[in-house]
Amino acid sequence: MIGQALNRVDGPLKVTGRATYAYEHWEGGQPLYGFIVGATIGKGRITRIDTESAERAPGVHMVMTHLNAPAQGARDESIPMEIWRAQPVLTSPDIHHYGEPVALVVAATFEEARAATDLVDVEYAGGRGRFDFAAHEDEVYAPKVVNAGLPTDTAVGDFDAGFGSAAVRVDQHYTTPYEFSMPMEPNACLVEPRGEDLVVYVSCQIVDAARASIAATLQMDPARIHIVTPFVGGGFGSKLGIHSETILAALAARASRQPVKVALTRQQIFQLVGMRPTSSQRVRLGAGRDGRLVAIAHEVTMHTNPDLEYAEQTAATTRSLYAAPHRFTSHRLTPLDLPRGADVRAPGEQPGLLAVESAMDELADALGMDPVELRIRNEPTVDPERDVPYSNRHLVDCLREGARRFGWERRPATPASVREGRWLVGYGMAVAIRGHYQGPTTVRVRLETDGSAVVQTDMTDLGTGTYTILTQVAADGLGLPPDRVRIELGRSELPSSWGSGGSWGAANSSTAVHRACASLREKLLVAACGDARSPLHGLDPADAVFADGSVRIDGASEALSEIVARNHPGGVEAEGETRFMGDDPNYAAYSIHTYGAHFAEVGVDSDTAEIRLRRMLGVFSVGRVLNAKTARSQLIGGMIWGVGAALEEEAIVDPRSGAFVNRDLAQYLVPVHADIPEVDAVVLDGYDDKANVLGAKGVGEVGICGAGAAVANAVFNATGVRVRDFPVTLEKVL
Ligand code: MOS
Repeated sequence: MIGQALNRVDGPLKVTGRATYAYEHWEGGQPLYGFIVGATIGKGRITRIDTESAERAPGVHMVMTHLNAPAQGARDESIPMEIWRAQPVLTSPDIHHYGEPVALVVAATFEEARAATDLVDVEYAGGRGRFDFAAHEDEVYAPKVVNAGLPTDTAVGDFDAGFGSAAVRVDQHYTTPYEFSMPMEPNACLVEPRGEDLVVYVSCQIVDAARASIAATLQMDPARIHIVTPFVGGGFGSKLGIHSETILAALAARASRQPVKVALTRQQIFQLVGMRPTSSQRVRLGAGRDGRLVAIAHEVTMHTNPDLEYAEQTAATTRSLYAAPHRFTSHRLTPLDLPRGADVRAPGEQPGLLAVESAMDELADALGMDPVELRIRNEPTVDPERDVPYSNRHLVDCLREGARRFGWERRPATPASVREGRWLVGYGMAVAIRGHYQGPTTVRVRLETDGSAVVQTDMTDLGTGTYTILTQVAADGLGLPPDRVRIELGRSELPSSWGSGGSWGAANSSTAVHRACASLREKLLVAACGDARSPLHGLDPADAVFADGSVRIDGASEALSEIVARNHPGGVEAEGETRFMGDDPNYAAYSIHTYGAHFAEVGVDSDTAEIRLRRMLGVFSVGRVLNAKTARSQLIGGMIWGVGAALEEEAIVDPRSGAFVNRDLAQYLVPVHADIPEVDAVVLDGYDDKANVLGAKGVGEVGICGAGAAVANAVFNATGVRVRDFPVTLEKVL
């Protein structure tokens, strides 16, 4: 079962509209609707806020501002991950960024709430702030650590001496813009008061973090918060934690004793959820004439909100990617009065690889060497900074297999040398690398007396395929047909998990299911082999085979339903766990990542510089695949994001106000069907025995990593023009 291209088990519910998303819940009777009023300055303070006319408007039940909002828990910096901390709102008249909530209007209908927001009269003092990254790029500080607790700086050997002595050098700056997760389902919730408890239907990635964060903010016992999120319409980092709409809805529901719904509009999402920091990156590569790197430096400067530090781990994978004796990486932050930086799909690797893999292409060009060959020449034997072995890399296999399948030998050797009519044609490639993470996760598997199984965990399915892969792993573990397995996810009453994020969800929860099934099998065998009424009595459990809903030992067989019914009249269950990676010795002993190689062909209009992707291929090494179909979808989706990062995505800040000016999906461009021709993703057969017992690693984000650089490198190959300021738009190529 594991690895098969099983169709999504939740597919029929989704295409028939029976999968209920957060804002569609209707529990607790007629809800009230809240609408957030956002600050119209980017820095300063509220000097007067008048809610009287809004309160008198039709349908309005209450208007909450900093003047009447309940006291809330403060952020606790001793909690290592921001998403588990309190997220207080409306705490003071101070404004920290444009769009910050200054009021919540609660009314009988959504329209009445929204209409009344215009009647909230706010006066501000100030307005001037630090909004322009380029103007403040040199005013930096070093954070203590970067995202995921990784070190801020690293150094090996003597970079300056190594770089100074190199025969061929690349020294370039690359810039990447503010980018957003923008899942199809907006951030939204219904909060229903039930006695002293709150039931929170919220679109989120990590149920345990949502509960902890809401409880800490509202200063409630976490046991009184019940999270429900069976279906999530995409997250991509923007739902790792809880945002102001959920805190405001919870405060309003508790105050009004009625259910309250709040959803963010698409425009509000741009101001209230957080974005990938903008970055300026300097990459220096020094190599011998044979292409062997002697020195690598990757220095990153990013924006951060001054109160909510966030440092994307942009240079982190540069520490592991290529061999070179002299190395240096650093991350610096410049505080700006903008929304906080946040995890956005492949945080770190996506912008970092745009820079490093562009620089590698520049080095190949300077050497007159094939870019694939340059990567192969710099393949390390051990992790070059940690000096530990790779668990399971196969990057060179990805490069060779990708080059063969793509027809890389047809790449134009000289840039701007191939023309088809108006179109200049070019090939580009780049490498993918992403860290593999693991967190504490518990899963319960239960066998009923009818021989069917139920898998329970608070893990979420963001549309990624969790329901399906857990069905497969449980069916495999118990020898059941998949339609005899039911998966229950996304409720805080279920055993807690690390949820979906960082590409860890699938491997984590599958490993826990696999282990739960192993202990369940053991319980069943102990019962059957020791039971005189069983045909398996006295046989050796070590010879047992679980298949087709039965246990077979030698020639004898008994149905699971009979074993359960006779020995466990109420059903039988077992739990399986994974632990925090910091407590797993393999994380210290090995460098554990996923890898890939991207190949892209573009056409560039020789008159207008319009760039069209013509085809794209990614070949990946991710250990064992859990479902061939959902994995391929994840990888292709990631590659398309990479195309967006290369050619389209960019949120632009108004330097006068700190607002994002293109704050909707008409103006913040992402690839649409017409932008994406033939794209294929291939996964090498694999099994990473250091990652976990299933040999599986995540596929959610590795598809994005490096994909954009492959496209940008193809644009260079087509035109001879190197654009280092992403996205590569036509006016920069002309
Ligand atoms: Mo991912 S950016 O950790 O959802």
